Amino acid sequence: MIDLHCHIIYDTDDGARTIENSINILKEAEAAGFKKICCTPHYMEPHYIKTKEENKARLEIIKEKLLEQNIDIELYLGNEVYVADNMGDLISEGKVSTISDSKYVLVELPITQKLLNADEMIENLVFAGYTVIMAHPERYIYAQKDLKYFDQFLERGVLLQGNYESLLGKYGRLAEKTLKKLLKEEKISLLSTDTHRESSTYTKMGKILKVLKRYAKNDYYDYITEKCQEKILKNM
Ligand SMILES: [Fe+2]
Repeated sequence: MIDLHCHIIYDTDDGARTIENSINILKEAEAAGFKKICCTPHYMEPHYIKTKEENKARLEIIKEKLLEQNIDIELYLGNEVYVADNMGDLISEGKVSTISDSKYVLVELPITQKLLNADEMIENLVFAGYTVIMAHPERYIYAQKDLKYFDQFLERGVLLQGNYESLLGKYGRLAEKTLKKLLKEEKISLLSTDTHRESSTYTKMGKILKVLKRYAKNDYYDYITEKCQEKILKNM
């Protein structure tokens, strides 16, 4: 499997705090069967503003530790950028990283309050040549009761990225129901873990995949767990 959304670079956002946290989480990911992981620290001004270079420096240190400890995972760098009207500039200024320097950008929307011009902000990024991956659509409270909210984004080629652990109810009943519905309609393009801590999603993958198999079969299951992610990393 491939994970394209997690917060496991130490000392950069609200995810892993120490290098030991980072390595322990990666051991759990390896045990769960993940071979490639794109680390996506939050970029949200003014709270999380580490630049691409700062994140890259930490990622290189983590990669060295993986080699030393024989942990077989390929790491890539990205960001989860909080929706803003200057996302294109943030990328060109080297503040925000796309997924492994591809055309794909992981974008987060506000959880509780609908942002009225989010569609415009995303459209501008699409016009600039990027493909937007919307992080965890099932968690946006204002969309849970009106799944048609996503249509305006799907029409612009936005990919929806669900969080695996929503299937176990981590973000509440409504988020769980929403993700299951979106999966049934095959509107989700990929799943990721959004891991922040040790002993979280990676250690529950057995249980999660059992549930997932009830909502996604055969080719679609392969697509959302690995094929779509592969395509993104290859910038196809
Ligand atoms: Fe996240």
